[in-house]
Amino acid sequence: VSECRVAVVTGAASGLGLALAERFAADGMRVLLSDIETGPLEAAVRSLRGRGYDVRGRVTDVAQHEEVAALADEAFEVFGAVHVLCNNAGVVKRGRSWDLTLDDWRWVLDVDLLSVIYGVRTFLPRMIAQRDGGHVVNTASMAGLLPMPNLAAYSVAKAGVIALSESLQMDLVAEGSDIGVSVLCPGFIATRITESDRNRPTGRGEVSPPPAGPRTTAGVSPTMDAATVARHVADAIRDRSFWVLTHESYAAVIADRAAGIGAGGHPTVPPVW
Ligand SMILES: NC(=O)c1ccc[n+]([C@@H]2O[C@H](COP(=O)([O-])OP(=O)(O)OC[C@H]3O[C@@H](n4cnc5c(N)ncnc54)[C@H](O)[C@@H]3O)[C@@H](O)[C@H]2O)c1
Repeated sequence: VSECRVAVVTGAASGLGLALAERFAADGMRVLLSDIETGPLEAAVRSLRGRGYDVRGRVTDVAQHEEVAALADEAFEVFGAVHVLCNNAGVVKRGRSWDLTLDDWRWVLDVDLLSVIYGVRTFLPRMIAQRDGGHVVNTASMAGLLPMPNLAAYSVAKAGVIALSESLQMDLVAEGSDIGVSVLCPGFIATRITESDRNRPTGRGEVSPPPAGPRTTAGVSPTMDAATVARHVADAIRDRSFWVLTHESYAAVIADRAAGIGAGGHPTVPPVW
């Protein structure tokens, strides 16, 4: 990704976002990290600067259109350009489809889907006008391709991110733009996503009770770390690959699902890797 010189990453204080920021910085890019969590964001920026990297931080709630717009303004004002945009911040709320409250739905859809729409609306016009290449990486999930029980809101949001990414890619081609798109669909990676409630706003206070039974990922040991996912993303940007599936074993399950659609099958619970 070295010819892409400035990267902006949302949800960059933890997990996959932090690993992406570290990868880009190590590859020689200038990076604007953003996150809703002030302390962890400052710590991440300090740590990266301590390693000699050219990075900045900006506290941003991606659920707020005007905050994403302000993030874009800062990126273009300070760096003069944006070459890689990672719409990565995300949260999860478990619950049966009919138990999830409207606050649950709105929180998850705001942070996981509307945020990506805000990123596309606020960054893309200027990235296209730059005529200097670039790449958009939207973090979806395997749950967007293989919806999971107790994860309706999350699966809906992530399926939306995938559809948006596909339309965006086609719109850019039709425009003759040299900006690429990738959609990251990770399997299970050990991060703080299971502690998403730490960032739930008080205005989304009606919380559904947790569903009976263990998490889908209970007892599953993650087989990949965030740094490896970030390397896959950097490779995808370089190679202009659209789909970034962290666990290749999912490809067969996705093909089964597609075949089931054609054959009139019913949804089944996908395996977790
Ligand atoms: N970890 C996994 O297994 C997995 C699998 C598939 C997809 N994902 C996706 O990866 C992305 C990153 O999550 P992660 O696993 O690194 O979890 P994480 O909790 O470690 O990191 C998510 C970051 O997003 C930030 N964030 C939360 N709400 C925000 C808001 N409103 N505005 C700005 N930032 C906000 C958090 O503070 C945190 O730093 C998410 O979109 C998630 O859905 C994760």
